[in-house]
Amino acid sequence: MTARSDAPAKAGDYPAILFKPLKVGALELPNRVLMAPLTRDRSLIDGTPHEMAITYYRQRASAGLIISEGTSTGPLAKGYIDVPGIYTDAHIAAWQAVTDAVHAAGGRIFCQLWHVGRVSHDSLLSEGEVPVAPSAIPGEITTFGATGVVDCTPPRALETDEIPHLIEEYRHATRCAMEAGFDGVEIHSANGYLLDQFIHAHTNERDDAYGGSEENRARLTVEVASAVADVIGADRVGVRLSPTGTFSDMRSDQETAFAHVIDGLGALGLAFLHFVERFPGIKLTDEEEAMIGRLRARWSGVYIANGDFDAARAAEAITSGHASAVAFGRIFLANPDLPERFRRGAPLNEPNPDTFYGGDHTGYIDYPFLD
Ligand SMILES: Cc1cc2nc3c(=O)[nH]c(=O)nc-3n(C[C@H](O)[C@H](O)[C@H](O)COP(=O)(O)O)c2cc1C
Repeated sequence: MTARSDAPAKAGDYPAILFKPLKVGALELPNRVLMAPLTRDRSLIDGTPHEMAITYYRQRASAGLIISEGTSTGPLAKGYIDVPGIYTDAHIAAWQAVTDAVHAAGGRIFCQLWHVGRVSHDSLLSEGEVPVAPSAIPGEITTFGATGVVDCTPPRALETDEIPHLIEEYRHATRCAMEAGFDGVEIHSANGYLLDQFIHAHTNERDDAYGGSEENRARLTVEVASAVADVIGADRVGVRLSPTGTFSDMRSDQETAFAHVIDGLGALGLAFLHFVERFPGIKLTDEEEAMIGRLRARWSGVYIANGDFDAARAAEAITSGHASAVAFGRIFLANPDLPERFRRGAPLNEPNPDTFYGGDHTGYIDYPFLD
């Protein structure tokens, strides 16, 4: 490292702090401007990424780290039309082309491992299957099926003896991700999907070791992280949480359960913890802000913050010691050269929500670069 990057962070050192290298587990990141996971619904029907994904991710390779869009760990993990998977040979081959392109362009990419739990529709699953969840409790949730927006199908509860198989699916997906050339995996335990459903009391009424007490509700996320870490080493595994998220009918009232999750993960020596601190368009209450602060304080490793950040707020969060790095969602989607724009203080392209989910190259690989 240069003398400059070793220098202590000081207020006003904006945005240079964003370009201070950072060790994240097994990786050395050249900057702290990370790309958040972004579902784009442009994969083939069997979950094989479309070849446009090669261009999309290569264009964004200047991120300190790319975290891929949510990627299904198995057939029952899928909750939206045209999302990718990482459990078949076809998935591995297509993702290999993506990771090769990112690496050739000098980047690094983790695969976000995703099981949606009850956020699904039976038309997205094999004949006769329904979504699975901690308990058979439907949410007030919609998803994108083959025919557009549909109400999610009421889920069935996972049997206790299905849990080892579920964890094995995460292990298998992790092996596939590494075979496909990813640098590591992020376990999606946020945003109201399966692992988050286990953490929350209103979606988990189980009476086995995975339900009831806060400690029990925290168990599955920690067991999945531990199993995945056993496969590839903890220094290539991160976890995403959203303790204040209300997306997909969630609530922000589970501080103690999240404290157990974080303490359990803390013992594993993971590469990072990643928080969705706030959701687009939703302002946190003072109490929610305080809860984020208290939960974050329990974690002593690399901490990635996300949610409505711009360069100035990101630099502030890193300078203050709150965050080690910041993940950018919508503005990375719309600005393939986001780090360079931050470096130059250049204006940003506006994201177009009409082309976020599904469609062709428009709003996907045609956002302009600066030069
Ligand atoms: C189009 C779109 C797709 C998203 N897909 C995912 C996803 O696959 N996995 C995930 O954890 N979060 C997903 N999110 C949430 C983002 O990662 C991020 O938390 C959110 O956009 C807030 O960050 P931002 O304000 O920088 O955009 C998605 C958000 C958007 C807008």
